[in-house]
Amino acid sequence: MRRNFGADSRCPRKLRWYKTIFVFTGKDASVDKMRMEQSMKGKILVTGATGVVGREVVKALAKRGQKVLAATRYPEKYASPKLASVEYVHFDFTNDQGSQHLFREVDRLFLATPPLGDEECELAIRLIDQARQQEVKQIVRLSAMGVEENEASHHRAAEKYLEESGVAFTVLRPNFFMQNFLTYYRDCIRKQNMIILPAGKGKTSFVDARDIGEAAVQALTNSGHLNKTYTLTGSQAIDHFEVAEMLSKTLGREIVYIPVADEKMRDFLIDLAWVGEEIDAFIKMYQCVQIGWSAGISPDLEAMLNRPPINFAQFARDCADAWR
Ligand SMILES: NC(=O)c1ccc[n+]([C@@H]2O[C@H](COP(=O)([O-])OP(=O)(O)OC[C@H]3O[C@@H](n4cnc5c(N)ncnc54)[C@H](OP(=O)(O)O)[C@@H]3O)[C@@H](O)[C@H]2O)c1
Repeated sequence: MRRNFGADSRCPRKLRWYKTIFVFTGKDASVDKMRMEQSMKGKILVTGATGVVGREVVKALAKRGQKVLAATRYPEKYASPKLASVEYVHFDFTNDQGSQHLFREVDRLFLATPPLGDEECELAIRLIDQARQQEVKQIVRLSAMGVEENEASHHRAAEKYLEESGVAFTVLRPNFFMQNFLTYYRDCIRKQNMIILPAGKGKTSFVDARDIGEAAVQALTNSGHLNKTYTLTGSQAIDHFEVAEMLSKTLGREIVYIPVADEKMRDFLIDLAWVGEEIDAFIKMYQCVQIGWSAGISPDLEAMLNRPPINFAQFARDCADAWR
């Protein structure tokens, strides 16, 4: 069900990301388009290539026969004869000076940084600089939904640096990934049949990382997406009670969502040895969910893929074994 943005007066600011789907920079897109078309035969460097979105980008590029350098700290673990056009290469964000040679082989970069908070911006900026020096033609940046509302956010700072870098770019701003239930929350679902979060009754238009991967491929292979920014959401907004209900139905056992107060969540994370900054960021993120900021639905993903996004019920069915 599509939300009626106009009817929701609790969070008027969230309208803005919906209305600023495209961010034009005033750069001459036709020049970038020409350069891009000339360079489409080169390799694509994918950072975070073994991460939740990065591995989907790699798979989707390989399916189309695109040549990929898949960056990881552990290339020996990932070499796969199944993905013939993919070469796993050593890359470490904390020692990226040793990786400059990689840029000589590529003309496009998919730039995902590990979820490290403020440090992410610094990592992204260093790589944007290297890519520009090596005349990389396009950078597709994995950012996050709603960052334009907070100019101080690390994702927005990296976006701005990229927009002003002179390199043609595409920014993807996804909402919460469905795959978080396979990574961060998997064990709690599998072992305790619970989802414990301070999300209240807030709704989220979760997006499947497989769809983000497909959108990234569109951006990397089709010059129509140069110098544009897209907000990527699913086509339905659901709360965590509904998530638990869908998982219960799929798994044939009861999964319960337990909404907890912020302070209780804080104690819980301290017990898990999380540190202050991480805890603050986590709590703030879910405060946004509580007030409905993650509920907006953008048409961008459907327009990029030319089909409806994967819905949560489908995601749950496809991934059911992970929670058994
Ligand atoms: N999770 C969400 O719901 C969500 C929503 C919107 C936006 N985002 C954004 O998406 C991005 C990715 O987040 P994620 O949670 O999905 O994480 P992730 O991509 O799964 O993070 C792990 C990846 O980071 C790589 N990595 C970690 N440290 C590295 C280092 N020092 N050098 C090189 N690579 C390194 C890992 O590669 P190796 O271990 O193989 O080296 C792995 O590929 C973040 O910017 C996050 O803010 C996330």
